[in-house]
Amino acid sequence: MSTPKKALPSCSTRSSRRSALNRQLRALSIAVAVAALSPNALGACQHVVRSEWGTGYVGAIVITNPTSVPINGWSVSWRYATNRVTSAWNANLSGSNPYTATSLSWNGSIPPGQSVEFGFQANKNGGAAEQPTVSGAACAVSGPTPPPTGPINVPGLHTLAAFPIGVAVNAGNEPRSLLRNDARGAAERAAVERHFDSLTPGNIMKMSYLHPEQNTFTFAQADELVNYARAHALRIHGHTLVWHADYQIPNWMRSYSGNWNTMLQSHVRTIVARYAGRIGSWDVVNEAFADDGDATAVNGYRNSLFLQKMGPGYIQQAFIAARAADPNAVLYYNDYNIEAGQQKFTRVLAMVDDFKARNIPIDGIGMQMHINIEWPSTTQIKDAMRRVVQRGLKVRISELDIPVNTFANPNRYATFTAEAAQRQEAKYREVVAAYLEVVPANLRGGITVWGLYDSDSWLIALYGRPDWPLILNDELQNKPATRGFASALTGVP
Ligand code: XIL
Repeated sequence: MSTPKKALPSCSTRSSRRSALNRQLRALSIAVAVAALSPNALGACQHVVRSEWGTGYVGAIVITNPTSVPINGWSVSWRYATNRVTSAWNANLSGSNPYTATSLSWNGSIPPGQSVEFGFQANKNGGAAEQPTVSGAACAVSGPTPPPTGPINVPGLHTLAAFPIGVAVNAGNEPRSLLRNDARGAAERAAVERHFDSLTPGNIMKMSYLHPEQNTFTFAQADELVNYARAHALRIHGHTLVWHADYQIPNWMRSYSGNWNTMLQSHVRTIVARYAGRIGSWDVVNEAFADDGDATAVNGYRNSLFLQKMGPGYIQQAFIAARAADPNAVLYYNDYNIEAGQQKFTRVLAMVDDFKARNIPIDGIGMQMHINIEWPSTTQIKDAMRRVVQRGLKVRISELDIPVNTFANPNRYATFTAEAAQRQEAKYREVVAAYLEVVPANLRGGITVWGLYDSDSWLIALYGRPDWPLILNDELQNKPATRGFASALTGVP
């Protein structure tokens, strides 16, 4: 572990580590309220949605100064297709689509490396929350620093591994769909096909997408992705049959008053059976356990709708139904915050032991691994993987991203400096090397990164701050992180 000591304050004591985890828990649960959105692919101004509801959202525009000289006064403009701003704060707003916002006396100067933001409320006008490009002199400053060592030549990562190397992708009607018919879409597909041999749909196979009404399943978007994957020899990992997150539980299910066992089994069975032979592995249940310190937990379980309606038995019901629908599919339980010695992980393992004792089917554990360059330690990560391997279960690193800004140090890097890139490279290398060291070949379900290129990462909107958590930059070029990943796979430093 090459992390400098001073970068680890949040992990140095138990209680501070716990509060970092609580922050992570809060942030992750905010995720469920935050719609999928992305900042501009490049540039220093980001349009972010802070919270969204049926007809509107609260948004912010974050202006970052990545240069070494102060910005004194700013003015930015943007235009929507259908959305309209109804009020704004912390800026002078003028115009009515396009809008222009200028700084106030107290927030006009942005020191090097710092950000300012202003907020607004918008009406969606019947459309989706949009992601307009924000322009202005303050946004035209150069984007992420290029990799410090020039072009980085790394073979396609999947060619270096005997297990799946995957990426989470947008598809269907989502913004930035991988399958969109333009030059950028084609470039993204080329990058996917170069490095990966497995795709996880980031959203479009969640409950509300596939099962929007009690008696209606909508498979068109998922089918399109499955067909693309098959045409390019990519496997699909199905994500996810049962998940607590509010934004993707269909409304009808929230008020469902029939037999929940029958309903949930039919939900799982219908989806798994449809893709039997085409989708080889599933996250059957996602995030069923509560985080350490969650006061709303019920016997360690997350107090989800499913728990309230069915008790903890919903988890086994889902696994049994999935196995019956496709006996060949590899079935995972998937969760975050289980790679650093958390009590939550102990509860997951107790469930595994109980399932094995009672012959409830389960084949593997998905460790999401939304980690960062400072946390957790390699020892903690290896210990966690080992405890899964000891039970004969497969291990997937299912949602890997490694931001360079952390809870302890949220504003450490306003630009992607050579130092940040190097520390991130080291962490990617450590994680992949730990996986190879601890997980025997027959239990390697694969490693999936959660997004294709840096500004594609869900974390930027989630935390509302700049970061570069993934293995390709916004130009879809390799980063030092790509090299770190590759060198762990080949064993060549
Ligand atoms: C995230 C998606 O990436 C976002 O686009 C969406 O807004 C929220 O969900 N754990 C999971 C994933 O299992 O499904 C989540 O995906 C990230 C956290």
